[in-house]
Amino acid sequence: MIRFKTTSPEQTEEFGYELAKSLIGGDVIALTGDLGAGKTCLTRGIARGLGSTSHVSSPTFTIVNEYEGGRLMLFHFDTYRLSGPDDFLMSGLDEYFYRDGVCVIEWSDIIEELLPQDTIRMTITGDGNIRTFECECGEKHSSYILEAAKKSCAENEVESISEPAADINNTDKKAKIDT
Ligand SMILES: Nc1ncnc2c1ncn2[C@@H]1O[C@H](COP(=O)(O)OP(=O)(O)OP(=O)(O)O)[C@@H](O)[C@H]1O
Ligand SMILES: [Mg+2]
Repeated sequence: MIRFKTTSPEQTEEFGYELAKSLIGGDVIALTGDLGAGKTCLTRGIARGLGSTSHVSSPTFTIVNEYEGGRLMLFHFDTYRLSGPDDFLMSGLDEYFYRDGVCVIEWSDIIEELLPQDTIRMTITGDGNIRTFECECGEKHSSYILEAAKKSCAENEVESISEPAADINNTDKKAKIDT
């Protein structure tokens, strides 16, 4: 698990911007966090990092917005209004996972069981201007996430914590990445 903080909306967007540079078609980023956590703010950075100049706003009423004009298509979901995974499947929305673009999903916990195996999961918490990001992903993405966090949040600590996080014997593996 990778954990770091951002201290402004601009920094969150910057992290998304840096992360986007490493994304490839088929990547899925699943975002959880309360209303106003910063999910759309992060997605705005990802869109910009992919090269799209479109304004990204919350797709709450349409469930998914498609953005083109960048290196890859961006499919931005907000599943807040779905009743559950069946609702997602019945609408055929899972087809987006197989398209050559990047899927970013707000309120992804609603469709947790449908998420593809290599999904990057991020939980955002905090208030004021501070947000804590906790990222779970496979090896394929972890170095890119670390790199993007280091670049965008240079003055903050970025932690990489070996799993299982709950195992106290593993705490010696916790590494502070020099900034
Ligand atoms: N460090 C930060 N990172 C991101 N947003 C921040 C930060 N500090 C303050 N904010 C503010 O928090 C709000 C985040 O709004 P955003 O629309 O991105 O949230 P959201 O998670 O998409 O919410 P919703 O679930 O309603 O769609 C913005 O008003 C932004 O200015
Ligand atoms: Mg949002």
